[in-house]
Amino acid sequence: MKKCTCIGVIGCGNISDAYFNALPSFPHVRLKAASDLLPERSKAKAERYGFRAMTTEELLADPEIELVINLTTPEFHTAVNMRILEAGKHAYTEKPFGLDREAGRKVLELAAEKGLQTGGAPDTFLGGAHQTCRALIDSGAIGRVVSGTAFMQCHGHESWHPGPAFYYRRGGGPLFDMGPYYLTALVNLLGPVAEVAAFGSRAFSERTITAPEAKEKSCPVEVDTHVAAVLRFVSGAVVNFAMSFDVWRHSLPCIELHGTEGSLSVPDPNCFGGEVKLFQPHLADWAKIKLTHGYTDNMRGIGAADLARSLSGGVPARTCGRLAYHVLDVMCAISESAERGAFVKIESACDRPAPLPAGLRHGQLELEA
Ligand SMILES: NC(=O)c1ccc[n+]([C@@H]2O[C@H](COP(=O)([O-])OP(=O)(O)OC[C@H]3O[C@@H](n4cnc5c(N)ncnc54)[C@H](O)[C@@H]3O)[C@@H](O)[C@H]2O)c1
Repeated sequence: MKKCTCIGVIGCGNISDAYFNALPSFPHVRLKAASDLLPERSKAKAERYGFRAMTTEELLADPEIELVINLTTPEFHTAVNMRILEAGKHAYTEKPFGLDREAGRKVLELAAEKGLQTGGAPDTFLGGAHQTCRALIDSGAIGRVVSGTAFMQCHGHESWHPGPAFYYRRGGGPLFDMGPYYLTALVNLLGPVAEVAAFGSRAFSERTITAPEAKEKSCPVEVDTHVAAVLRFVSGAVVNFAMSFDVWRHSLPCIELHGTEGSLSVPDPNCFGGEVKLFQPHLADWAKIKLTHGYTDNMRGIGAADLARSLSGGVPARTCGRLAYHVLDVMCAISESAERGAFVKIESACDRPAPLPAGLRHGQLELEA
């Protein structure tokens, strides 16, 4: 019989609703409780979603809870992940996996020492659109991928997030905030990165906060808010990559990959669905491709559900710590390259996560071997 994994969540802020809405779609997990430094937040979510509000101490001491999802802000990710593992529970964290390589390594090492699993977001690459792209690449639809582009350009989060200051501190900025979506999507499609070269800049030293619910009116900028890099993958593909919080408007595609036999337009890696387009030389223009995989709505939490599924054997977790650490390593290398004006080689490696089976529909993840 398939095992049901009992889950706890630490951090009940802005993104937690997406998890609380999606987790009940997975019958092999059960959300038991959540905590927050601000108890009124966990209490309000508990009442709304029908789980228990606990203190973090209570949650970590609960023997029924096996897996804890860490939805705190980036500066707390490592400390909270270490506490979860110390408590003998598997740890799944929101991105980034840490603020630097040492922090990420500490978490991997403690998990290995304790025989526990760790991993993290983003899990959008498990969505129907990115899995369809993965199946197209694996079937040779565009041949050997030679080049590509990956662009995320916006004007930051201060117009909508009630507490956006963390996006402009270490662990934030467009690279550490949005980079994980693009890099994880690219590693899923192309495999690991071998080397990077980058430049960075910041347009403002302070950001004006206009979100209606925000208490603060401005926040200082401590990180680069425009980062442009070139990534060389182990496969040989070379991808132009630019993440920016300094752009008011643009017309650039999210991700395009170009191969020896065609081109693939890959939709927003911050979403689970989206339009997939393929071009092959016999076609007059891009052809819109029908998605072959399910999970196309906001399914944040599917990565934690996948990690829970992996606990009972079978396919290893797709959102595993090695993948999350590799993405962190690439982001650190991009920052170093921009600072030092030098190419930086990537030391970590990871496998491409196993694809989800074609035709896997909403609610069926737990059925997978
Ligand atoms: N907001 C989004 O749209 C979004 C989307 C995807 C991912 N994320 C990621 O999710 C994480 C959280 O983002 P958010 O927007 O929800 O932030 P937030 O500031 O709205 O919420 C974070 C919550 O964590 C709590 N917290 C912080 N440290 C804690 C600790 N040590 N113990 C217990 N609770 C603690 C805070 O009190 C707060 O309620 C970040 O890593 C962010 O990058 C956010």
